[in-house]
Parts: sequence; C-alpha cells; structure tokens
Amino acid sequence: MSRGKKITIRTLLDMKAKGEKIAMLTAYDYQMALLEDQAGIEIILIGDSLGMVVLGYENTLPVTVEEVIHHLKAVTRAKPRALVVGDLPFMSYQASMEDAVRNAGRMVKEGGAEAVKLEGGRRMGPVIKAIRDADIPVMGHIGLTPQSVHQFGGYRVQGKDPKGAEQLCDDAKFLEDVGCFSVVLEGIPWRLAEKITGSVSIPTIGIGAGIHCDGQVLVVNDMLGMLDEAAPRFVKRYAETGRVIVDAVSEYVRDIKEGRFPDLDHSYSDEKR
Ligand code: KIV
Repeated sequence: MSRGKKITIRTLLDMKAKGEKIAMLTAYDYQMALLEDQAGIEIILIGDSLGMVVLGYENTLPVTVEEVIHHLKAVTRAKPRALVVGDLPFMSYQASMEDAVRNAGRMVKEGGAEAVKLEGGRRMGPVIKAIRDADIPVMGHIGLTPQSVHQFGGYRVQGKDPKGAEQLCDDAKFLEDVGCFSVVLEGIPWRLAEKITGSVSIPTIGIGAGIHCDGQVLVVNDMLGMLDEAAPRFVKRYAETGRVIVDAVSEYVRDIKEGRFPDLDHSYSDEKR
C-alpha cells in the first residue's frame, strides 16, 4: 500500500508557507511507527521522553545516545513516510562541538534519522551550526525544555514574564537564522507562541503552546491514555488504551484460570482435512 510521498524538511517548509498544519507524534518502536504512518503523521520523533514512558526513568536526563539509537532503528525499519527525527539526549551535545557532531552523525548513520532535535536557543548556536555543517538538519526546541528541569526548578511554563518572553522571541529568530528547519515551542503561553509563529518562516511545532503554532506534537503514550496518571493540562487523551489493555489482559488471565483458553478453535487437531 502506498503511504504517499515521503515527507522531507522541504515539505514542512512548504506546508508552513501554505498555512497547512503539521501533525507530529513521538514513536519508539516499529509497530507504532507503522500505525502512525498509516494515520498520516508527518513527523515522527524518537524523543528522549522514551526514558520516562518506555524505560521507566524519573526524567529524561539518564537517557543515552545508545538508547535513542536502539529505538530509532526500530522506527526506521518501518520505513515511514513521515520525516524521522532523532532526539539528542542530555549531555550528548552540550560538552563539546565534537560530541554534538559525532552523536548527531550516529543518529543518522546508525539509527537512520533524517534530522536531529536538540534543546536550547541562542547559546546552542555554535553546536547547531557545526551539525548543520555536517549536512544534518536540526530541529530546535525552546521554552519548557525538559533537559533543563533542575535549572528551572521543576517543569514550569516559560515566557510568562516580559523578559522571558522577549528571550524566547529572540531565541526563535536566532534558530531560524542559524539554519534550523523547524522549532518546537514547549510549555509557553499561547499568545507568545502565536507571536513567535508569526515572526519566523520556519514551522513552529507546539506542545503546551496553544493552537496558533504551525504544528503540534504530543508524546504518543500520553495521547493514547496508556497510563492512568494525571497528565499535564496540554495533553488531550484521544483513547483510553491503558484501560483496554488491562481489561483484555484481565480477561485472558480469567480465561486461563477458569479453563476457557485455549478452546478448540485455538488448538491444533490431528484430524486430516
Ligand atoms: O522527548 C520528547 O518526546 C520531546 C517532545 C515531546 C517535544 O521532546
């Protein structure tokens, strides 16, 4: 089945120019990548959120390049139509430019990523430039950047005060100028996101940043309602998959205990047909 024309960074820039909204989700494995692609997702992010939703870490900080690459490989085996973006985890690009280029290169060469994402604005300029010079497209990420959780003193909405808002406007413009093909705006007031979106020619992808961004991203496990946990305000649960799974597994357990599974329909017979 043809899944349509491959999405590239060009497609996304054209979509912004035409005012077409961009749909992005995280995925961490082969099957989810196939399903998302079938549903028409345009960007798949192998986010460092995998640390929390797949690996059970408390935050994104322990995630390693190897872990991201492992999940990237699973996703790229699905050969998605969507653009595949690999997230550079904490400390894979901050210590030196050499680290940054090497690790971004590994995402592409070993994992099959078509672009990388990293967190931070103007201060990340030299690193972004070095990765771009290696011909690797970069997606920026500003606002409530989870890798800065300790610096922020928790997961707090950013850009609520005039100085913070100005800084974010400056960062977004800077990321465009330094060659990012897109920028994620996370956890900022919607009016500020609207202003930033109107001031740059690259697509803004919002998460907790309101309706006026050029596109939206969510963590797939959150929007599918996998865990029965309180989610941040910006998460819309499109399904209660966790409940569906618990109900199905409970029925399986009951069927085994009460001798209903496997019945003859699910057993092999020695009769010749
Ligand atoms: O790691 C992640 O999943 C992310 C997005 C939700 C933007 O960075």
